[in-house]
Amino acid sequence: MNGFFYKDGVLHVDDVSLLDIEKQFTTPVYIYSKLSLSNNYKALEEALENKLGKGHPKLIAYSVKANSNIAVINVLKKLGSGADVVSSGELKRVIKAGINGEKIVFSGVGKTKKELSFALDSDVMQFNIESISELEILSEIASSKNKKAPIAFRINPDIDAGGHEKISTGGSNTKFGIPYKQAVNVYEYAKNLPGIKVVGIDIHIGSQITDLEPFKLAFNKVLILYQKLIENGHNIINLDLGGGIGISYGENFTPFDINDYADLIKEKFGSLECKLIFEPGRYITANAGILLTKVIRNKESYNNNFLIVDAAMNDILRPALYDAYHEVITVVEKKKEQEVIDYQVVGPICETGDIICRKASLSNIKDGDLLAVKYAGAYGAVMSSYYNSRDLVPEIMINNKKINIIRKRILIEDLISYENIPD
Ligand SMILES: Cc1ncc(COP(=O)(O)O)c(C=O)c1O
Repeated sequence: MNGFFYKDGVLHVDDVSLLDIEKQFTTPVYIYSKLSLSNNYKALEEALENKLGKGHPKLIAYSVKANSNIAVINVLKKLGSGADVVSSGELKRVIKAGINGEKIVFSGVGKTKKELSFALDSDVMQFNIESISELEILSEIASSKNKKAPIAFRINPDIDAGGHEKISTGGSNTKFGIPYKQAVNVYEYAKNLPGIKVVGIDIHIGSQITDLEPFKLAFNKVLILYQKLIENGHNIINLDLGGGIGISYGENFTPFDINDYADLIKEKFGSLECKLIFEPGRYITANAGILLTKVIRNKESYNNNFLIVDAAMNDILRPALYDAYHEVITVVEKKKEQEVIDYQVVGPICETGDIICRKASLSNIKDGDLLAVKYAGAYGAVMSSYYNSRDLVPEIMINNKKINIIRKRILIEDLISYENIPD
């Protein structure tokens, strides 16, 4: 269920008109639907519970990198979510949002000593370890605190998850995880370290995966490793299956159904007693958010119809970074009989790559019209910056017709105030 829909010819979010939101907040602004966030979380939880049974041990550890606003995390926390974090900054956010260490998984390829120490003090439930050196340092720090750090190794199964190379993480040419062939040996080594308690296996093969096949291949490898580790006397109580569930961005294809994903989980892991951990990010937040933007001006050049809007690559980086497609629609609904024009929607930043949508087929757009960039709730505001000395984009959340500012606009004047001209 998506909380964004047209009512009386105007795009609404959870019954609030985007025209009204624009009057109060101007643009650009991110807008999230609390209802959609909740529905997405519940859809995944329900699919898993329908297939695995309600009592099967599991944890949905929302991957905070997708959208780390503490209000968003808090909505999910109230539904029972844990968190997957990749930095002490994200850990601080989830603690602030009310999630306890026992539901927090600490991932990431370059955790520093300071971060490991902070996570130990926060009693996180599992460290996903990506190298021997990280393991040894964690053991030392944990021993000095008279603790044993609960760990899983992130295994790199050497599987190409498809999709854009910049978000595919499970191949042999990426920096992530421990090579599959070395897995048994690293577990043997970890067993004897004083500050370490082996508790699980972890994989995450990539993001925006729209076909189940790579998951199938990766899960088979996890199962083989699991059996081997049990034979070797390890007490594997957690299987962390990562994130990566893909969504449609409005293109003409449908990714796998969440019930089929849950079926696969049941087929592969349903008979094991381990706790199954899931780290979804995009699936929970992407379609729960839009970026509202206003057309500054139309510009025709050669054969191109450009719409120069007031959002830019500093506000939404995905199209520039990954050539990602985000559907763009008008806030005032197009009438059926209106002629359609193919526009390039671009920002005002001085970069050729500052493109928000290469082809948006829209009715005749005038300067000042409002557009919504859809599926912007994941990897949107979290990647924003103030490049070209632009304000940092604000975020609002609609909850039962109530408009809540969850990150105020950070003005360039605020940012300049941190700078200093030396004598
Ligand atoms: C370790 C880890 N877990 C989970 C995720 C979330 O992925 P997604 O948003 O595709 O579900 C990511 C993102 O790449 C990740 O790096």
